[in-house]
Amino acid sequence: MSKIHAVIKGIGGYVPNYRLTNDEISATVDTSDEWILKRIGIKERRILKPEEGSGVSYLAIKAIEDLKKKHDFDPLEIEAVIFGTSTPDYILPNAAALTAAKTGMTNAFCFDIEAACSGFIYALEIAENFIISGKYKKIIVIAGDTLSKLTDYTDRNTCPIFGDGCGCALLEATTEDVGIIDSIMQSDGSSPEYLHVYGGGSANPTTHETVDKGLHYIWQDGRVVFKQAISKMVDVCNEIIKRNHLSPDTIDWVIPHQANLRIIESVINWLNVPHEKVMINIEKYGNTSAATIPLCLWEWEPKLRKGDNVILSAFGAGFTWGATYLKWGYDPQ
Ligand code: UT7
Repeated sequence: MSKIHAVIKGIGGYVPNYRLTNDEISATVDTSDEWILKRIGIKERRILKPEEGSGVSYLAIKAIEDLKKKHDFDPLEIEAVIFGTSTPDYILPNAAALTAAKTGMTNAFCFDIEAACSGFIYALEIAENFIISGKYKKIIVIAGDTLSKLTDYTDRNTCPIFGDGCGCALLEATTEDVGIIDSIMQSDGSSPEYLHVYGGGSANPTTHETVDKGLHYIWQDGRVVFKQAISKMVDVCNEIIKRNHLSPDTIDWVIPHQANLRIIESVINWLNVPHEKVMINIEKYGNTSAATIPLCLWEWEPKLRKGDNVILSAFGAGFTWGATYLKWGYDPQ
């Protein structure tokens, strides 16, 4: 019997309307358009304003609607919805269930996973294993965040970086030689001090004091995270390239997490992959956390061809990181 693979059969995406420019940020903190472009590579990022909508499920519903427009599927056939996010609408219920209810995926069981910027590749890993078990045939993976809700816009170390956005993928079972081929997922929770939001969870439930201390904002030691992001993504990419006998010539696309253009450039230099094979859109959207990789796929979808060798890699809080090797599943329509 042929081996079952889980293959992406469609991509949807959405970014909110409001464009937060470097000049607007420079009006409130001591920074400049020039510094942000040179050190991070971002020109603008999208922000979900209350007048447009609220909660990450708002973005996810829009992304699913986009997916449905391009790739017709029956929402009632979706068996599971897995949502990678660090910014669910509420502590509970989960954002996957909220999204499924509003998009007609009422037969699916739904849950969120929290793996920060690695949310998409972790969720893909779970969905793939559900599918290759033979029990499930159609799963929606969503990855989105509204990190603007956790950002202190008086902190120049974090506020230029983050933006809001959401992407989604329809995964199906196939016996063709396409889909997810291999993956490496890793975590190290020994040093949460380098990148965290300490307030609002069970260790520091929300009180006036946690709010006064700013514990609900994202905080990072940028230099440590920067170095870790490069070395961990390079390690897992090299490992997956080696064990699948790939080379810069046979790789068609690399999609690195979009956290900082200098991180991306360093990773691709280490991998020796030419620039034209690398998807980069950080300039327009900033770091949208779990959404960066599916938002690249969303933009590059018309250029992807069936059988293309694609490497995805992410790094985020936790720390969490990993790499996925997949063969693209369809030609542009
Ligand atoms: O998605 C995963 C999570 N996040 C990341 O992967 C982000 C990883 N880190 C980074 O992207 C970068 O470390 C930052 C963008 C956060 C900072 O850039 P950097 O080039 O690493 O700056 P730095 O922290 O080494 O600071 C260099 C200087 C410092 O000034 P002094 O001490 O040399 O006088 C900072 O105070 O740049 C200063 N600085 C800024 N200057 C203007 C830091 N932020 C800014 C700013 N505008 N926004």
